[in-house]
Amino acid sequence: MVEETPRLAVLASGTGTILEAILGAGLPVCVVIADRPCRAARLAENAGVPVEIVERESYGPDFDRLAYTHRLVDSVKRHQVDVVAMAGFGTILAAPLFTDYAGRILNTHPALLPAFKGWHAVRDALAAGVTATGCTVHVATEVVDEGPILAQEEVIVEPDDTEASLHERIKSVERRLYPETIRLFLENFSKGANR
Ligand code: GRF
Repeated sequence: MVEETPRLAVLASGTGTILEAILGAGLPVCVVIADRPCRAARLAENAGVPVEIVERESYGPDFDRLAYTHRLVDSVKRHQVDVVAMAGFGTILAAPLFTDYAGRILNTHPALLPAFKGWHAVRDALAAGVTATGCTVHVATEVVDEGPILAQEEVIVEPDDTEASLHERIKSVERRLYPETIRLFLENFSKGANR
């Protein structure tokens, strides 16, 4: 039996160093979707990977999250995506994505979930004075930073750490752990375990 390679979409908004690691690991990325022009989108373009900018029309209170999510889901469907990996995507998405792709959306978060959910996970860990934090790869659900945990790794907080230095050390772990975990997930997906 010939197993088809699953089609992976990466959602990114920022500097895209995690995306870079995913591409560097040779994972089957069929499209990179960004919500704004960003380094991640340029990086994908330079790597010859199809890029879609599903541009967010507003960052204010009038932002229509549901309509935006529908536009994004349309783009994911157009590319016949099997699995979605969020890699620093800056827009919280609404139910339609999590319904249509339930159990097939992955995320990496820069803290040891369930500790320090949210946008400021690294800052919050530092402010709490913890001696160790880390990163978590999990299946994403409609509730932000919830969902079954697939992998976690600890990172020690150094006494002179700033938010930037600690985040960079966490990201250096994410750049290894996330591609590894995606690869395993895709292997299981091919075998039908996640369908
Ligand atoms: C990572 O720390 C990821 O966990 C968080 O956003 C960061 C993305 O980093 N969700 P980069 O833009 O890929 O460098």
